[in-house]
Amino acid sequence: MMVIDAAAFVPFVLELMFPGVAYVRLTRLVRFLKLARYSPALGTIGRVLSAERRALLACIIIIAGVMLAAAAAMYAVEGEIQPEHLGDMPKAIWWSAAMLAKIGGEWLQPMTALGRLIATITVMLGIFCFALPVAIIGRGFYEEIRRRDFVVTFAMAARVPLFSRLDAASISDLVAILKARTVHAGTVIIRKGEQGDAMYLIASGAVEVDAPEGKVRLEEGAFFGEMALLSRERRTASVTAIKSTDLLVLDSEDFHRIIDRNPEIGAQVRAVAQARKGPLLH
Ligand code: CMP
Repeated sequence: MMVIDAAAFVPFVLELMFPGVAYVRLTRLVRFLKLARYSPALGTIGRVLSAERRALLACIIIIAGVMLAAAAAMYAVEGEIQPEHLGDMPKAIWWSAAMLAKIGGEWLQPMTALGRLIATITVMLGIFCFALPVAIIGRGFYEEIRRRDFVVTFAMAARVPLFSRLDAASISDLVAILKARTVHAGTVIIRKGEQGDAMYLIASGAVEVDAPEGKVRLEEGAFFGEMALLSRERRTASVTAIKSTDLLVLDSEDFHRIIDRNPEIGAQVRAVAQARKGPLLH
């Protein structure tokens, strides 16, 4: 992120050094990258592309192979008949790329029967070549989203020790408001100093709190992120997943509604927060 910040600043310096040069002005586009910080969805795209990189590389090889084969065939058949369009391999490759992507090709009608046959096969293969990566990426997205957002069930909410005294109706209400989030090992869930907007309950997995007195490991059934919500101040510590962890997320607004409605839960959360704050006071 610091590299991106630097890259966003460099165009300003470059423009001072080379005023009025259009290419230098283009470097301003780098600032667009800063948007990536605010879009978790872009992170999802990155993970999907990375997970499917082998299949996508195979697609690129297939597309390149088909393009070269179509170009070579067309060059051999019509290279001499239409030298202005197919007279050399780069021209023929441009033609086959246009046919595969169906961005045109009207500017070049095949003259021979064999040429028309090659063009027909190339167009058909184009559909296959582009459908393949779309299907791979679509499936990758489905997998990624399924991994990230599991479904919160009644049993899951009922297993959380904090909610163990609640009746079935209250747990059903909770199931409707809790959101699910799966994080990979190493994901920073909470950053120290940020504004608090949710509390997290660990459905499975483990996290590590980087508390001032040392690292504290929290396991299944524990909760964290309550302190900033209670005090309405900033996050007191960073929290990182140490393995793949399923979290139940309670938004700030719902958190306050629940502890207002269930004073027992409120007292329990406050007691835990007080104990965690304790070491800081000494
Ligand atoms: P919050 O301050 O909202 O965000 C960081 C969270 O880490 C904090 O709430 C607590 O839930 C948790 N936390 C902070 N200090 C400790 C500690 N000493 N032991 C366990 N958890 C802690």
